Amino acid sequence: MSSGVSVVILAAGKGTRMKSARPKVLHELCGRTLIAWVVDQACALDPDRIIVVVGEGAEDVERVAREAAGEREFHAVLQEPQKGTGHALQIAAPALGPSPGRVVVLYGDMPLLRAESLESLLAATDDAQATAILTVWSDDPTGYGRILRDEHGAFRGIVEEKDASPEERDIGEINLGVYAFAGEELLADLPKLECANAQGEYYLTDLPGLAVAAGRPVHLVELEDPEEGQGVNTIAHLAEARWAMQLRILERHMDAGVSIEDPATTYIASGVAIGAGTRILPLTVIEGGVTIGAGCEVGPFTRLRRGTVLADGAEVGNFTECKNTTLGENSKAKHLAYLGDARIGKRTNIGAGTIFANYDGKTKHQTVVGDDAFVGSGTIIIAPNSIPDGVTTGAGAVVTRSAKPAAGETWVGMPARRMESKTREPREPRENGER
Ligand code: UD1
Ligand code: MG
Repeated sequence: MSSGVSVVILAAGKGTRMKSARPKVLHELCGRTLIAWVVDQACALDPDRIIVVVGEGAEDVERVAREAAGEREFHAVLQEPQKGTGHALQIAAPALGPSPGRVVVLYGDMPLLRAESLESLLAATDDAQATAILTVWSDDPTGYGRILRDEHGAFRGIVEEKDASPEERDIGEINLGVYAFAGEELLADLPKLECANAQGEYYLTDLPGLAVAAGRPVHLVELEDPEEGQGVNTIAHLAEARWAMQLRILERHMDAGVSIEDPATTYIASGVAIGAGTRILPLTVIEGGVTIGAGCEVGPFTRLRRGTVLADGAEVGNFTECKNTTLGENSKAKHLAYLGDARIGKRTNIGAGTIFANYDGKTKHQTVVGDDAFVGSGTIIIAPNSIPDGVTTGAGAVVTRSAKPAAGETWVGMPARRMESKTREPREPRENGER
């Protein structure tokens, strides 16, 4: 069913102040690009269509935004040259179609906006012809458009800093650049924008003034949490926004019963699933695309990369890196290991200093380790390889591709060779750390 909402995201700008070759909206925050966070905000409104105005890095921005939009109707429109925010919306207008419903405008560089705030903005436009503008009060409004009100407090217009009088510059109420418009009125007003201003640009911010002049209601919606309004214009802003987003992600996991000992030194990207009762110890980095079961222990000083899956009760300790690796129930890799492209069974112990040599310089190869195996300290397993159930490797063993150990055998040395005397049945679960 149609929600009667369309979203336009302005993301054509260069982001000069980032001093980066990468388009601003493709910078990452907790494992997700700025533009993807904003597309997520749009999706939370269940819109009929999402339109992204692209310019700088158009192809890449379009690809990333389209992917974030999933199955939704999606349009990317190219704005070239860029003649202002109003011009950007003019370029987007054809993709809105003749009856776009209510049109929400977002900026591609405001990742912290919450769905609840956008919903209050939309709620303020229930009156079919109304415009709503998201504002916030700021001690330092420098650089922002200021909100002008009349003597009764009613909205009069927005003035850009460069066009503002000294008195207007003293106003602390600022325009965040997030709006909800009545679609048909918007389409009628867009051609009326002029560029007779200090920057010679078509200002989107003139549209609410046109609504007032036509006698249509304009509502101001104040952000409850000013943090949400933070735009990213510099690398320092990106770091601040990252921290704010990181706290939200950590709080969500803690609410779900994950124990995070030191939030200040724990990095968990968006899109990580963690089961209840799991403990995350300090100085741990968990990247996107990682799944951790219940009752696990991770860290301190652990890095889990994309494709890592820890089954319930698994433990990964200090200076261990996992990539694209599954660690089965109650298996452990407690110290100094690299586990890349591996599938490891249950109750297996990976000793300190183990390396899965997964890369031959051209291709990545997989290692499969069975249940109840005991990989001795300093073992190097050359992939592709297979270590069946119950195999033991001796300290420092180098298990080449031709080794082919059978279940329960013990392999030692460099290159590892089978030890005649020490073949055994798959062993009982052992206590952690035993060698
Ligand atoms: C804009 C607002 C200002 C508000 C501020 C909030 C206008 C005229 N002013 O100013 O009132 O306080 O945002 O941050 O809108 N963009 C395009 N095409 C363009 C120009 C911009 O897509 O031709 C995009 C940019 O990529 C960016 C957004 O629009 O995502 C805002 O543009 P920016 O130039 O930063 O506007 P401000 O001057 O900050
Ligand atoms: Mg800006």
